[in-house]
Amino acid sequence: MPYQVYADKESASQAVFELFKEELSTNPQTVFGLATGSTPEKLYQLLRESDLDFSQATSINLDEYYGLPADHPQSYHYFMQKELFAAKPFRASYLPDGSTDNPQAEVKAYEAIIDQNPIQVQILGIGHNGHIGFNEPGSPFDSLTRLVDLTQSTIEANQRFFDSIDEVPTQALSMGIASIMKADKVILMAFGEEKSKIVQAALEGPVTEEVPASVLQNHPNALFILDQAAAKYLK
Ligand code: GLP
Repeated sequence: MPYQVYADKESASQAVFELFKEELSTNPQTVFGLATGSTPEKLYQLLRESDLDFSQATSINLDEYYGLPADHPQSYHYFMQKELFAAKPFRASYLPDGSTDNPQAEVKAYEAIIDQNPIQVQILGIGHNGHIGFNEPGSPFDSLTRLVDLTQSTIEANQRFFDSIDEVPTQALSMGIASIMKADKVILMAFGEEKSKIVQAALEGPVTEEVPASVLQNHPNALFILDQAAAKYLK
């Protein structure tokens, strides 16, 4: 699987920004698959500060915590509003509804949204255990959008955004591995030494459900965008 290594996350984010720009100039109605977490923050800053116009484009986010209303400061709705949508409104922006009392109907409706708006460019981060979206190790490669349990390590990793670990949701609504693989192009960004081991496993290790991101080796148009620290163990 191809990858590009940049000196730092700023230049790596700039490269992804250029890709967004190119995509949008070719097709103002591009459907972007978007991610949360600290990894895409620099990209979103570049987009916010740019003169790009997303008013004809569509966004579909990967996931949302289950049990958090959209106005909760740690919800992914809130994150996306703050990081991107307030400055750059899209024609339509979709995120799973984390406050639904009918998750089964919600995930079915969400997968239908993905099918009706095929994603052209999907952005991903990667969890320390190789998760993409909230597809934890062991997630079936044929999984679609669904309600998932978060692993203890993910709950601990995400604790930094909450006042205490008890406040971190234990479940999420997440696009599945197969939902992500439907995208025409997938760009996984990973920065920092803390991601270096899992990046090596995902890129150079076996394709296995134990390392969800390794499935991208099977994608015809996936690209890893790394900084030097995250690329440390690559052969
Ligand atoms: C979360 C998100 C993922 C994200 C990952 C890594 O659990 N659901 O989409 O890629 O964490 O987060 P970060 O970019 O902060 O390292």
